[in-house]
Amino acid sequence: MTAAQGRPVALRGRGGKGPPFSVMLPPQRRSMNAIPERPIALLSPLVEERDALLHRLTDVGTQAIGKLQVVTGELQGHSVVLAESGVGKVASAAIATLIAKSLDCRAVVVCGVAGGIDPALAIGDVVIADRLIQHDYGHLTSQGIRNFRPGVPPIGEARDRIAFDLSPDLLMRIGAVVKDIVLPPLPPDLGVEPGRPPRIAFGPIVSGDQFINSEEARERLRRDYAALAVEMEGAAVAQATELLGIPCIVIRSLSDLAGAESHLDFPRFLRAVAPAAAEVVTGVVSVL
Ligand code: ADE
Repeated sequence: MTAAQGRPVALRGRGGKGPPFSVMLPPQRRSMNAIPERPIALLSPLVEERDALLHRLTDVGTQAIGKLQVVTGELQGHSVVLAESGVGKVASAAIATLIAKSLDCRAVVVCGVAGGIDPALAIGDVVIADRLIQHDYGHLTSQGIRNFRPGVPPIGEARDRIAFDLSPDLLMRIGAVVKDIVLPPLPPDLGVEPGRPPRIAFGPIVSGDQFINSEEARERLRRDYAALAVEMEGAAVAQATELLGIPCIVIRSLSDLAGAESHLDFPRFLRAVAPAAAEVVTGVVSVL
């Protein structure tokens, strides 16, 4: 094998507990950066989501941080560290903190799939969070949940801001690069509105330790938070990065619509839609 053909890298899926496998990575290229830059952490909850990013990296290596194995490399000439961060708020916040603190990261990007909430969006569209809310944190009564800022005791009046907002400056810079990204349509055999090009939308994403598989729950998330999408990690990572003083950017492609069919759509579309979020992340790293 020559350097021009690339090289295999040995990895394990399922949080490092799965069977070992190797992937061929693109040929290595020397970094043009004279001064080493602080890396950007790229977190994907699932191995399928991580692999959509892995193939875009150059100068790839692996590194252990405690018991966690991460991939180091470059994306568009920027130093990155990529990890399969696990599903749910605790797993993702713990891993975000571990990586960002150990490697002095300058930003954390969460890249993967989500359930669509806004009826104007379709499977395959990409949502970039301008605000992140933990929809399951708060005070639960027979009237429903009253959200509080995560970390604040959920008793009494909910006066605190419940959302983690992206800074207006970063939002503007991301908007400027995203407007030039054109996403390829999903393969027609998947049967998702053939011919409709995937859209990229900015808006609230809500996170909670629940897979949403109910029209009623989807409607509530839309009504209560004006959410465009729901997933299980982003707002928890934002809580962790706020403490570290670095931004959290959440970019998700829609694998399902969080309704009665979402448990069928999610496995059906996961691999097909994951590359769209990875494509948007590839464009966005240059402005972080
Ligand atoms: N991630 C992808 N689809 C989801 C859903 N329906 N609920 C929560 N997280 C998701």
